[in-house]
Amino acid sequence: MVKGFSKLSKSAKIEWLIDIYFNGDVGARETLENYWHSDEKLQKIHDEFTENTVTNFYLPMGVAPNFLINGKEYAVPMVTEESSVVAAAAKSAGFWADKGGFKATVKSTTKIGHVHFLWKGQDKKALAEFVEGIKDKFYTETEGITKNMRNRGGGILGIELVDKTVDVPHYYQLEAEFETCDSMGANFINSCLEKFADVLKEEIAQTSLSPNEVEIVMCILSNFTPKCIVRVEVSFPIEQMVEGTEMSAEAFAERFTTAVRIAETQPYRAVTHNKGIMNGIDSVILATGNDFRAIEASAHAYASKDGQYTSLTHADMSDGQFKFWIEVPLALGTVGGITGLHPMVKFAHRLMGKPSAAELMMISAAVGLAQNFAALKSLTTTGIQQGHMKMHLLNILNQLEATEEEKKIIVKHFIKNTPHHAEVVEAFKKVRGGEVLT
Ligand code: MEV
Repeated sequence: MVKGFSKLSKSAKIEWLIDIYFNGDVGARETLENYWHSDEKLQKIHDEFTENTVTNFYLPMGVAPNFLINGKEYAVPMVTEESSVVAAAAKSAGFWADKGGFKATVKSTTKIGHVHFLWKGQDKKALAEFVEGIKDKFYTETEGITKNMRNRGGGILGIELVDKTVDVPHYYQLEAEFETCDSMGANFINSCLEKFADVLKEEIAQTSLSPNEVEIVMCILSNFTPKCIVRVEVSFPIEQMVEGTEMSAEAFAERFTTAVRIAETQPYRAVTHNKGIMNGIDSVILATGNDFRAIEASAHAYASKDGQYTSLTHADMSDGQFKFWIEVPLALGTVGGITGLHPMVKFAHRLMGKPSAAELMMISAAVGLAQNFAALKSLTTTGIQQGHMKMHLLNILNQLEATEEEKKIIVKHFIKNTPHHAEVVEAFKKVRGGEVLT
């Protein structure tokens, strides 16, 4: 056990780690230091994003160009460690750009938060009347917090008392809805909720309700955002489904639609299917400094909103048209958080023309749909390993510390075959040993 670790200087923290966990290995210290930024000011910004920082952790940022969304073209920044993801998004984007691109709509942008409280009285009607009677106070007492947001067109949209005593004894909620414009809004919502709780406590104390007190359990926004929804769709004549497959367009469209139907009905498949969608969405969320944990949690909750976990995308073939769409909750921000601080995040926003939060919802969902299209196309035609292993080949070769020349020879050797890890290692050993690959 270490006491006061957070109070140690960065250097002392590293010293302690190296002593205890790396047997004093200076190489481990060098590894950490190699990833420090040479610009001390910039390094300090990174150090202060979180606590106990000892170094930076790099992930690659790729770019998927040619995303045509509602007639506007975007080059989308994607941060991911997974090979094939950026290539797949870019390939789908190009495929659809030729067919009119993505049609996107933000259906709603409402976010929700709760004051969770206990009231041990019997007269529920009186409680409801009391909350109704003090509603204005919730608004007036939060005016200082909501002023800027109201100026931007947002604020508190509504506050309701919800009786949850069937689930937990004496448990009620103040359920509040918010519009947070271009910010994700977590701080704004939580500040409002905590003020609502104060108002509730102060006001009930002045009534004849029995008891005239509540116990506040907690005040917090919900990351489940089923009222902050974006829909993105592609559609085109079925005969255009041919590109890159050996099947007829009709047969491919049918197999593709069946694959989506499987994800819609089978949770085992749906989870993997949605994971592929999130490969795309998360990479944009990371690049733009948004909270991928919140987005993941909400997307999966939304996928099970009707009682069974299902696919976030859907497909349809009718009247000679192939239609493929996604509907997903995405509570995103383009201001606040680290959006104005992290140089790469700032770059990502600039690259997309500084989108509004609603625009970013459309871009992210389009990338998710593109990702899913690419995955299903591979899965239902060549199989996923062909493309994946080719991309993975370089990772394996880098791990083996192959030289550029060795990489060139081995990549060329596997151009027509799908390599597995063991085959790559074997080929590498041969090339290193001076053998010619046959
Ligand atoms: C791999 O990261 C994602 C896929 O498994 C998605 C899918 O199966 O649809 C390829």
